[in-house]
Amino acid sequence: MYAQMVKSTGTGVKSLDEMEPEERAFQEKVDADIRIEARDWMPEGYRKTLIRQIGQHAHSEIVGQLPEGNWITRAPTLERKMILLAKVQDEAGHGLYLYSAAETLGVTRDEMTEMLLSGKMKYSSIFNYPTLTWADIGAVGWLVDGAAIMNQVPLQRTSYGPYSRAMIRICKEESFHQRQGYDIMMKMAKGSEAQKRMAQDALNRFWYPSLMMFGPSDANSVHSEQSMAWKIKINSNDELRRKFVDQTVPQAEYLGLTVPDDTLAWNEEKGGYDFAEPDWDEFFDVLKGAGPANHDRLEARKTAWDDGAWVRDGLTAHAEKKRTAKVAAE
Ligand code: 3HC
Repeated sequence: MYAQMVKSTGTGVKSLDEMEPEERAFQEKVDADIRIEARDWMPEGYRKTLIRQIGQHAHSEIVGQLPEGNWITRAPTLERKMILLAKVQDEAGHGLYLYSAAETLGVTRDEMTEMLLSGKMKYSSIFNYPTLTWADIGAVGWLVDGAAIMNQVPLQRTSYGPYSRAMIRICKEESFHQRQGYDIMMKMAKGSEAQKRMAQDALNRFWYPSLMMFGPSDANSVHSEQSMAWKIKINSNDELRRKFVDQTVPQAEYLGLTVPDDTLAWNEEKGGYDFAEPDWDEFFDVLKGAGPANHDRLEARKTAWDDGAWVRDGLTAHAEKKRTAKVAAE
């Protein structure tokens, strides 16, 4: 699509004509769906955008363990504990693949962590909402992982090779996560009146924060246009949000639960639901650090980082010792 743009776009995105030969060759590769690899030439903005997005994504996977890890000891049965434990471990693995993908762009994991802890990097807004009941763990799996899959399946085709390959495995595991969440919701929604109320309450609290996961509306999305030109992003924020609503509303109906949106209605003409936008003031407040759990989440990460310093130091010393021994033997 962008290959066809030969005249200036009149937007912030450069046309092919405005590019230097190196950049033009890069853009033509992107337009032809040829993956960009770590050693290939890339515009500095592309590299920075990827570090921001992949790093933020990695932080989200790691911080995302906190609201669920909190429930491992309180899950109602041994089987539920084992499933939840496995899911939380998967999220740790996703964080590691993503940090590794970001590292291929010349940033270290330590630098990214320090940027997170100093507030220079973000993590997903959704993890600033607390999980108050067991039904919240169902809602997180169903809605939060469901939204994550909607956003991440297209990222398997993102233009940067290491990111797209990491997304393939992550998406397989996220599908299992979504199903375990829906399974919890099924049990709760078909259970006692009190359990059904808990399930409805969880849906009420997690619906709009889940819609916010896709990012601000397209009109307010500062990065989308350039990121889509570089095929870092394949779809716009609003497009994915709409797809998520269309997919999720019938699932809520099947559970016998009500989506907390009085304006929700099927629109025959567009073949999708009309629905209410989240409260964007709340979203931007959460991004600024004023969400219900921002403080606790960052404190937990700071504590883990400080408490783990001796492990990092030990591993670095061991690696150095091995390197020196190898050099001496050569
Ligand atoms: N939470 C926090 N910040 C958000 C956000 C969200 N839900 N949505 C947007 N933002 C921030 C952006 O980072 C940007 O801020 P910055 O310029 O300071 O970095 C600003 O809001 C403007 O938004 P844009 O739409 O212009 O930003 P993007 O083009 O980066 O789009 C995105 C946002 C759709 C989230 C995109 O970055 C993306 O697709 N990221 C990859 C997926 C990801 O990070 N997912 C995390 C979900 S949780 C998860 O995966 C864990 C799983 O186990 C559930």
